[in-house]
This record gives sequence, structure tokens and C-alpha cells, in this order.
Amino acid sequence: MKQVTPFLLVLSLALVAPSLSARAVPCVLTGSWINDLGSIMTIRALNGEGGFTGTYRTAVTATTNKILPSPLQGSQHQPNQKNHPTFGFTVNWSFSDSVTVFTGQCFVDEAGEEVLKTMWLLRSRMDDIKDDWKATRVGTNVFTRLQPQE
Ligand code: BTN
Repeated sequence: MKQVTPFLLVLSLALVAPSLSARAVPCVLTGSWINDLGSIMTIRALNGEGGFTGTYRTAVTATTNKILPSPLQGSQHQPNQKNHPTFGFTVNWSFSDSVTVFTGQCFVDEAGEEVLKTMWLLRSRMDDIKDDWKATRVGTNVFTRLQPQE
């Protein structure tokens, strides 16, 4: 009987641990996020250095092109070192000649929800160097976690 109790303890930990995946550690960016414009980004698992890749589905465009999902690449500081890690990522738009760089920080708000506060620069391609002055837009986006659908 004495040996059964530690066995049950280890067994229950093994069963519970998988459900404490990325979501249980706040501010691990892995997963899907929606911003204030309705754009959705999905970030795949972080590598050992905090690097990640993913897909960005923008809800809006500065072009007249048909919007397509676009790849993103970025990195975040390790969330176990600091509670509210900073991060950055680049979206290389599949449907235009533009690139957007985002930089931001993950916070946990008063309701316990993760919030990504970001700022971005969108560089559009200009045909003429004389138009360089109007090539870069700047803005902010706030992302919240998109809850997985049942
Ligand atoms: C383009 O129009 O050339 C590419 C799409 C740009 C979408 C921008 S990036 C910053 C802002 N945040 C979004 O979610 N979408 C827009």
C-alpha cells in the first residue's frame, strides 16, 4: 500500500501535465490571436531560443489585392525569465510587395487575460524614389487570445 501512493501521485501528474500546455504559462505566444481590426494570427510552437513562425490573416489591406494568408517570423524573450515578455515579428505579405514589422509586449490584464500591445511599421513598395516619403505607415494593434472552438 505504501508504494501505491507515490505511484498514484506520479500517474495523476502525468495525466494532468499535458492539459497544462502552452496556455497554462501566460504569455507564451503559441496559439491564435485576434486584433482590434479583426486580423487573426496563428503562432506555432516556439523553438528553444524563443523563435517562432506562423500565419497572419489580415482583415484589411492598403492595396486593392485579394487578401491571402501570409507567413510571419519572429522571436520573443523567454516568458520564464520575465513575466511580461517583449517580442517582435515580421509579416511578408503574400498578396502585396509590402512587409510589416510588429514589436510589442505581452501583458496579463486585470481580468487575467493575455493582451499583446503592439506597434507596427508597414512598408509599401514605391515605383519611384520620389515617393519614398509616403512609403511607410505606422500604427498600433491590440491582440487578445482567440479561444479554441469546441
Ligand atoms: C498590404 O496592405 O500591403 C498588406 C496588408 C497590411 C495589413 C496591415 S499590417 C498593420 C495592420 N494590422 C493589421 O492587422 N493589418 C494591417
